[in-house]
Amino acid sequence: MAVPLQAKLGQTLDGRFLLTEEIGRGGMSTIWKARDLHNRDAPVVVKIPLPAYSSGIGAWSMFQREEEIGRQLDHPFILKVLPLDATPRRSYVVTEYVPGRTLADRLAEQSPLPEADALAIAAQVCEALVHMHARSVVHYDLKPANVMLCPDGSIRLIDFGMAHTAITARFALSGGVPPIGSSDYVAPEQIKRRRGRISVDVYGVGTMLYEMLTGRPPFPGDDPFVVASARLLGDPPAPRTLTPAISCQAEEIVLRALRRDPAERYPSAAAMKADLDAPERVPVTGLSGRLQPVTRWRRGLRIARHVAMYFLLPVASQVVLFLLLWHHLAHKP
Ligand SMILES: Nc1ncnc2c1ncn2[C@@H]1O[C@H](COP(=O)(O)OP(=O)(O)O)[C@@H](O)[C@H]1O
Ligand SMILES: [Mg+2]
Repeated sequence: MAVPLQAKLGQTLDGRFLLTEEIGRGGMSTIWKARDLHNRDAPVVVKIPLPAYSSGIGAWSMFQREEEIGRQLDHPFILKVLPLDATPRRSYVVTEYVPGRTLADRLAEQSPLPEADALAIAAQVCEALVHMHARSVVHYDLKPANVMLCPDGSIRLIDFGMAHTAITARFALSGGVPPIGSSDYVAPEQIKRRRGRISVDVYGVGTMLYEMLTGRPPFPGDDPFVVASARLLGDPPAPRTLTPAISCQAEEIVLRALRRDPAERYPSAAAMKADLDAPERVPVTGLSGRLQPVTRWRRGLRIARHVAMYFLLPVASQVVLFLLLWHHLAHKP
């Protein structure tokens, strides 16, 4: 395990990467813009886990996995990890620098987006996913803060901190917990702790597309628990009720990606991309008319089910056991 790194502005890491600007700080890492002194001062980005975070072995292997997964991928819409010598003590990841801003930044400024822009961005995310899914990599954390918009109109999918490959998924099945992204964008099967695979990413694109088209996430709110569990109880409002200018086809695409049952979603990112590329050919099946809103009644039913499962059932089975035992002892000759 590498020694946690306390990075400072102006510091040069391993004689090569000169840190010039802190550009982001997440819960787990700091993101620095840097100059690569071994490559004509090319701008790069250095991601350094926060000391508190990098001190655990599990967390550390997660960070290394982010780098390994990044190296398996090679696509114009996916952030490139710089190939460096395998130094076991190096506690940072270096990637290309992406000029531009995140989709979250754009949505903070302009939202909803014009339909054509929203569909084009979602189609590019799908194209990146096709490349990843073909290599058994699932992103698991698709959200506007993890999509960068470049000045040339292309996107760059970033942040593979939650991503899993088939191999790491096998580890997770043998005791690990499936990763859960932000509550606004998490898929229903992730909350139920069922390991979804590509269906989770299809849902993730659906949540982003919903937000781009309507200006709000499918299930808004301040309490992450309520926000996350709402998607188990019902469907979001039909996008055209929030933004009437959206086409019926765009609404159909977003609702198909957000189906609660993964089997009813697009079977692949490629299938979703095909619809996003040619929305005029999408048949409108009236998904918007079959939505089930999240009601108080449904919330109550779910709470009642939980009470029955976790309280009444165990108590009832104890009582039955007691009665059987009592009957057995009382009638013993
Ligand atoms: N290669 C990059 N080029 C430019 N900005 C980046 C790059 N990588 C990350 N960022 C910025 O830093 C933020 C956090 O990066 P991210 O990899 O998502 O880290 P975290 O795991 O903390 O979410 C991004 O939302 C983006 O604004
Ligand atoms: Mg991120």
